Amino acid sequence: MRPQRRVHLSTRRQSLVHCRYYPRPLMLKRTNMCGSLRASHVGQTVILAGWINTYRDQGRGLIFTDLRDREGLCQVVFDLEQAAEKMVTLAKTLRREYVIAVKGTVRIRAGGSNPKLATGEIEIVAEELELLNAAEPPPILPDEAERTNEETRLKYRYIDLRRPRMQQILETRSRVTKFARDYFGGHKFLEIETPLLIKTTPEGARDFIVPARLHPGKWYALPQSPQLFKQILMVAGCDRYLQICKCMRDEDPRADRQAEFTQIDLEMSFIEREDVMSMMSGFVKGLWQELFTYDVGTIARITYADSMERFGIDRPDMRYGLETRDISAIAAKTDFAVFKDALALVKTGPDGTAATGKRGVVKAIRVPTPNEKITRKILDSYSEFAKTFKAGGVPYTKLGANGFETGVAKFCEPIRAELIAALGLEVGDIVLFAADHYDIATKTLGELRQKVARDLQIIPEGEWNFVWVVDFPMFDWDGEGKRWVALHHPFTSPNPDQFDVFASDPGACLSAGYDLVLNGSEIAGGSIRIHNMNVQETVFKLIGLTEADAKMKFGFLLDALRHGAPPHGGIAFGLDRLVMHIVGTDNIRDVIAFPKTQSGIDLMTDAPGPVDPEQLVETHVRSTVPDTATSSTTR
Ligand code: AMO
Repeated sequence: MRPQRRVHLSTRRQSLVHCRYYPRPLMLKRTNMCGSLRASHVGQTVILAGWINTYRDQGRGLIFTDLRDREGLCQVVFDLEQAAEKMVTLAKTLRREYVIAVKGTVRIRAGGSNPKLATGEIEIVAEELELLNAAEPPPILPDEAERTNEETRLKYRYIDLRRPRMQQILETRSRVTKFARDYFGGHKFLEIETPLLIKTTPEGARDFIVPARLHPGKWYALPQSPQLFKQILMVAGCDRYLQICKCMRDEDPRADRQAEFTQIDLEMSFIEREDVMSMMSGFVKGLWQELFTYDVGTIARITYADSMERFGIDRPDMRYGLETRDISAIAAKTDFAVFKDALALVKTGPDGTAATGKRGVVKAIRVPTPNEKITRKILDSYSEFAKTFKAGGVPYTKLGANGFETGVAKFCEPIRAELIAALGLEVGDIVLFAADHYDIATKTLGELRQKVARDLQIIPEGEWNFVWVVDFPMFDWDGEGKRWVALHHPFTSPNPDQFDVFASDPGACLSAGYDLVLNGSEIAGGSIRIHNMNVQETVFKLIGLTEADAKMKFGFLLDALRHGAPPHGGIAFGLDRLVMHIVGTDNIRDVIAFPKTQSGIDLMTDAPGPVDPEQLVETHVRSTVPDTATSSTTR
C-alpha cells in the first residue's frame, strides 16, 4: 500500500491536511454525525465527514462551510490565520458538494446562533482536513432542489436525495417498514418471500411480461401482487404471512400511483373479517403512536352503499361536509329537461330489463360559500371538469333571500321548499347538480365534492381521518360485456350471511372485502378469501371464466384449495401511499428513492432502453417496431 499523504505542519495550532484521490484507508475516521452536535459537545474534538453544502470565503481570513450528512448540517470554520499553509491552500480549493472529513473542536458560534439549524448554537473550528473527493459543479444544488424542475431532480436523483427533506423521507419510510416488521413479527407473522417471475395475477391490471429464454414462446408475468402465493402459504400451514414486496402493474402512473410500487402484504389463517380489521387497526394505531404520539382512536366504519350515497366515492374523505344527496324524487317534479332526461335514462340489468338495472339520477351538493370564494368563473369551470367524467355539465343555482337566483333558478323555484329541506339550504348557499346515469352522476359529484373542498380551502390540515369501508358488493353488472365482474379480485369471499344470495341474486350479494381509507385515499385493501372449491367455481362461472380458462390461469390455486385450505383472509397496505400521508406529500415520487416519471421512465438510468439484437434472438422475441433493438424507446 502507498504511504499516506499526511502533512504535518506546525503553526500556532497544529493543522493537518490530507488529500486522497485514490482509494486508501480513511485518515480521519468519523466520530460524530454532522446533525448530532449540540452545545453540550462544546470543547470536544470531533471528526465529521460529509458534503460541503455551502462555502463562503469571507475574505477576512475565515472560510465558512456548512457540512452536510444524513442527519443534518453543521457549520465548520477554517481560520486561515491559525491554520497551516497546506490546509489553507486545500481549504481554498473546496467547492460545493466536495466530500471531506474534518477534525476540529466544537465551540459556541462566534457569530451568534442560527435558530434555523438544529446545530445552530455551535460550530467546529477545523484543525485537520481530508479531501475525500472533489465533485464537478453540481447540476442541481440540494438547497435549491425544491425549486428545480422534477425531471432534473430525477435525472440526478443521487444529488436530489442528499436534501435533508429527502433523507428524512427515506428515514421515515424505513421506520415504517421496521415498525411493520416489529409489530407483525410480534404477532407471529412470518416474513416469507414469493417469486417475481410468475404466471399471472388476478388484480385486474395489465401484466408486465418477461420472455422465458429456456422455453421458446413462453412468458413469465411480474406479480401485480403476491395474492395467490400468500393464499397458498395459508394452505401450506404458514398461518400468518408478511412480506414487504414489490408489485408491478402496467398501468398509467398518477399522483398516487406508480407502475412499480410496494405493499406491506399480509395474510392470516383461521380468522374472520373482524380479526383482520382489528389486527390492522392495531398496526395503524401503533404506527401513529410511534411516529406522531397521536392516538388514532377507534377507526370508524362506513358501508360501501353509504359511502357512495353520501360521498359519491368508495374512499370517502370525511374531514369535511359537502355531502351529496340523491334528490331524484324532488327533481322529477320540475320541467327541467336535463333532470327529466336523466331520470328517464335506464341501464338494463342482467335479466335484460330496467327492473334489475340502474336508473338515471339527479344528485346535488349544498355548498356554503361564506366568503364568496366560488366565483361565476369557477362555477362555469365545474362543467368542464364534469366532462372528464362523461357528465354533460354541472347545473347550479344559488339561494338568495327571495328564492333561487342564478343558473337554473327558474327550474328550482317550483321545488324550492323541498330542496331547502332535503339539502338543509341556507341563504347564500350554492347548489351543484349532477343529472345522469347513476354511475356518471355519482362519480361526477364525488370528484367535484373534492375539488370544491380544495377551492374553498376547507380541508383541515393536520387531521387524520381513518375509516374502514365494508360491505362492498361482490359483483357489478357489466352491461356491455353482459357478465358480472368481481369488485375485488375473484378470490374474495361473500360475507358469511350472503352465501344464500350470491348464486341466486349476485347483484345483491355483499362481499367480505374491506378497504382502509385515510383522508380520502385508499391506503389498504383486502378481504376474506374463498376457501371452498365449490364457491370458487361458482364465482368463476358468474364472472364468465370458463373451466378451462380458470384452470389455465389459476389451476394451481384451485388444486391447492382441494387439499385442505383453512379459512383465511388478508390485506395489503400501499407502503408508498402510507408514507405519502405520513410525510405530507401528494406526489408518490417523493417517497420512492428511484421512481419513474408519469410516462414510466427512470430518468437516471434511462430505462426502458433498447436491448442488444442478440438478446431478442436468445429470448425468441421478434419486435414489430423497426430498430427497437438498438434505438431508444419513444417517451
Ligand atoms: P389492492 O390492489 O387494493 O389489493 O392493493 C392494495 C393497496 O396497494 C396500494 N396500491 C398502489 N399504490 C401505488 N401505486 C399503485 N399502482 C397501487 N395499486 C395499489 C393501495 C391499495 O390499497 N392482493 C390485494 C390485497 C389483498 O386482497 O390482500 C391487492 O393487491 O394503497
